[in-house]
Amino acid sequence: MRIEQNYSLEQHNTFHIPVKTRWFIEYNNEEELQRVLHDEYFQECLSLHIGSGSNLLFLNDYNGIIFHSNIKGVNLVEETDNSVLLRIGAAEKWDDVVAYAVSNGWSGIENLSLIPGETGAAAIQNIGAYGVEIKDVVETVETYNQLSFEKRIFTNKECEYAYRRSYFKNEHNDPHIVTYVNLRLQKNTQFSINYGNLKEELAKYPEITLATIREAIITIRKEKLPDPAVLGNAGSFFMNPLISIEHFERIKKQYPSIPFYPTTENKIKIPAGWLIEQCGFKGKSHGAVGVYEKQALVLVNLGDAKGHEIALVAESIRSAVNERFGIELMPEVKYVG
Ligand code: EPU
Repeated sequence: MRIEQNYSLEQHNTFHIPVKTRWFIEYNNEEELQRVLHDEYFQECLSLHIGSGSNLLFLNDYNGIIFHSNIKGVNLVEETDNSVLLRIGAAEKWDDVVAYAVSNGWSGIENLSLIPGETGAAAIQNIGAYGVEIKDVVETVETYNQLSFEKRIFTNKECEYAYRRSYFKNEHNDPHIVTYVNLRLQKNTQFSINYGNLKEELAKYPEITLATIREAIITIRKEKLPDPAVLGNAGSFFMNPLISIEHFERIKKQYPSIPFYPTTENKIKIPAGWLIEQCGFKGKSHGAVGVYEKQALVLVNLGDAKGHEIALVAESIRSAVNERFGIELMPEVKYVG
């Protein structure tokens, strides 16, 4: 187990904000996690469990414990004629898992290529891209309850998945720490290629395979999204809002080319990036905070931006979108502090 005091989180958040935490604790296995959860001193402290910090905005130094898992491993625990079940340590880098699945010919997560972050956080956040969400392949999620210390295995249904939501993100529930994620992947390749310009990109390849889908997705993402290692960012800063059909019709009269996604509910999902672009923010910067020039949904740290400066720009975007469209944007990024 690794325990650090007054530790910089600069390399643990993809905005690269140089805040410090009073304690940083990294455990290597479930036994170490149990031990630290039972520690009376640490129980008194404020705490937050992070993955690679690719969806966090630190506003201040953190006066508590930041937990980080170092539970690794990808194990094939079951194989049938049609599918495999993989048990994956929460600290496994998500994109390594995707690369491994694709190289073995197992389908289901290839559309989720190159999403930053670790596997535990991916299951909490219900990551999604190009028409696929991790919920489509999650069989179970193994956890520890941070208050009762009990181990619990959540079925997919018990995870209460919805767009960028889950049981684990709901602050009314007891905090749960994810230790392992079990994914069911398919051996027969069922591709999902109808989202946006994925088909167009795939037309450049001689055939459609798991490997070419992964390559196409990586190409599209690299074109649109900044690499957090080069330019600090946390991907989409806001969620795409859902609005009523009447509301959508009213906006459409004024903006006939408004893009939208159909949803299964009686609502229409609007790309927040489009709303932000319409309000004139795309490519603009405010001090060290930029609105990415190729995708307005992404806020970037141009150098030494502070968390609260990013939050201020986000707030001015929210009010501009609300004023012009009557739509309230909700951050996808979690504010800390
Ligand atoms: N658009 C604009 N201007 C912009 C950006 C987007 O007009 O600056 C419009 C365009 O019409 C474009 C449409 O929005 O066709 C959709 O854009 P894009 O395909 O980039 O997807 P998105 O809805 O902005 C969502 C996810 C992304 C995910 C992509 C692809 C959310 C909040 N974001 O973005 O996820 O990669 O779809 O599936 O749902 C993330 O969560 O961090 C993330 C990057």
